[in-house]
Amino acid sequence: MAPMDVRLHTHDGYATDRSVAHYQRIAKGGVGLINLELHVVRADGMGPYFMDPRITDDSYIPGMKKIADAIHAEGVVCQVELGHFGKFAAAEVSSAVSAAVPPLTAPGKNLQELSEEDIDELLEAFAVCASRVKQAGFDGVMLHGAHGFLPQQFMSPHSNRRTDRWGQDRLLFSTEMIRGVRDACGNEFLISYRLSGDEYYQKLYQDVAGYTVDNLAEIIPQLVDAGVDSFDISAGALDVPRYYAGPDPNLFPANGYGGYLPLAAAAKKVSSVPIIVTGQMQDPELIERALSEGLCDMAGMARQFLADPDFPSKIAEGRPEDIRRCIGCGYCAVGAGGLAAIDNHSVQCAVNPEAGWVLEGYHTIRPATDTRKVMVVGGGAAGMETARILKLRGHQVSLYEKSSRLGGQLHAASVAPGKTDISLLAHYLVTQLEKLKVDVRLNKEVTIDEIEREKPDVLVLAAGGNQFVPPIPGVDRANVVMGVDLLCKEADIGSRVVIIGGEEVGCEVADFISEDKEKEVTLTSLLPGFSTRGHIAGLRALMNLHGKQVDLVPGVRQYVEINDEGVRIIDAAGAERLLEANTIVLTAGSRANDSLAVEIRNKGLVRYSVFTVGDASEPRSIVEAIHEGAIVAQHI
Ligand SMILES: Cc1cc2nc3c(=O)[nH]c(=O)nc-3n(C[C@H](O)[C@H](O)[C@H](O)COP(=O)(O)O)c2cc1C
Ligand code: SF4
Repeated sequence: MAPMDVRLHTHDGYATDRSVAHYQRIAKGGVGLINLELHVVRADGMGPYFMDPRITDDSYIPGMKKIADAIHAEGVVCQVELGHFGKFAAAEVSSAVSAAVPPLTAPGKNLQELSEEDIDELLEAFAVCASRVKQAGFDGVMLHGAHGFLPQQFMSPHSNRRTDRWGQDRLLFSTEMIRGVRDACGNEFLISYRLSGDEYYQKLYQDVAGYTVDNLAEIIPQLVDAGVDSFDISAGALDVPRYYAGPDPNLFPANGYGGYLPLAAAAKKVSSVPIIVTGQMQDPELIERALSEGLCDMAGMARQFLADPDFPSKIAEGRPEDIRRCIGCGYCAVGAGGLAAIDNHSVQCAVNPEAGWVLEGYHTIRPATDTRKVMVVGGGAAGMETARILKLRGHQVSLYEKSSRLGGQLHAASVAPGKTDISLLAHYLVTQLEKLKVDVRLNKEVTIDEIEREKPDVLVLAAGGNQFVPPIPGVDRANVVMGVDLLCKEADIGSRVVIIGGEEVGCEVADFISEDKEKEVTLTSLLPGFSTRGHIAGLRALMNLHGKQVDLVPGVRQYVEINDEGVRIIDAAGAERLLEANTIVLTAGSRANDSLAVEIRNKGLVRYSVFTVGDASEPRSIVEAIHEGAIVAQHI
């Protein structure tokens, strides 16, 4: 498992019982090697959120020892990632870079070239912290030399323009760091090196680009010579948007599945030690192919272990259909409120409510004490997850879906570029319901009469939301289609399209339609910007739009009417104008589909215990659908 900052430690960087339970749970799933997340070696090396785990003095050792012991109890090897953010450290503490070269992520930051003494102190810090990791009982360290962190800042021609020996030999910092750790920890201690196989700076800069995959032949043997036992090949740097492998909204849009395999293969050709590759490797067939073709020696994964820690044992047991696959949504990295709200809360996973909450045990499946008859109304993500857990707990459950297939909004949500993995979630849930033999009733709209006939003990309402149709004159014309229908390929469009509504779905629809370069697309919004709630899918779609021919019309004051020629608006400047179109797409949000709940309430049918989950309660995302479904199912 690749390192993942799961934010379960204290704000001053100490391991907690929650951290121990988290790693123990992953170790139980059959993984071979666990790398703990980045631990900074000096307080001035912390990232932008001031709460990276640390091992900067001996007081951190006892807490970390509990983690090492818990992982070892499951027979799994474990290492701790050590690093320093260098020029990317939090603005207030930053003073350390190899050489100051703009642009930086925080332009106002006061950067300072490291002196010889500073460098010696930092190298000493790596060695001392590594020996603390050893004292805590870990098998080794992973030195973070990737993603633009301090060792890479030295290694990179982009950022290291020093003229002294640290600039003449750009590998010197890394090789000295490795030798220092080896001297401090001995030959039996594992040293893994996380390396960006290509910095990808050449994607942004023509003049002083970084090193590329072609330089690995020179880099890797020198690092091995210094004492490295294995490499974890990743890519990019924090200031190369879209090519950085870390926790940001760009997680692999440009590289996709196995996108770093070419880098790993190049590394393997010149390496005498094992090569691990990390970055969207969680497809079992891809792993098999990469290993059998000799492109790498091991497949590393991060997010898949949040989505399903039992991933390795499910492969080993020959039941890949039971794997709950990571859908690449990025929620674990940026949390509930999107980028604006990175808030140091513990990690959560959209598809696995247990992630981050292992100690509390909320999501451990326990048999129900009283078996209940439960009707679940709605076969989208919320309804399916509720039914799955109810059945696992031993309840008698029937799932009603008014359409001819299960999946609900998951189908529309998996269409936009970069979002196809959402269909893996639908596939997983449908397969699990089949395997559990849940009584699924398709093409069945539930009415009060049906409920009265069935007389369930409990009703779970998960009927999703209804698409909102804004009251614009002409909105009922034949040239108007709903965005969701379009994504589900249930609507045709002409060559000129105007989209009304610019939040996530509007941006995704624009992204989807504009894949066809023949289409002229205009995206409009009443708000001053697009995807303003900061949801990651919307931001990703919006970023995709920048390279495309899509007209953005924010700040519409009024949609005056829809007619044969298009949409007449009053724009942000107050001028009335026509946006020509032969198809108008509505993506103006949705409203909770709570009609059954209202009817039950109005008829005073108090004998049923009623729960409402997912969009049927309030339109939101997959996260809420899955988590609410799971929580309600655990409480029945
Ligand atoms: C929540 C989260 C936290 C991460 N924290 C770290 C970290 O502490 N150190 C690191 O080197 N990479 C970190 N990464 C990057 C991962 O190790 C990995 O390179 C990336 O997620 C791509 O692999 P995947 O597709 O298997 O998730 C993090 C990723 C995520 C999603
Ligand atoms: S499903 Fe989403 S939240 Fe869960 S691990 Fe994957 S990217 Fe993270």
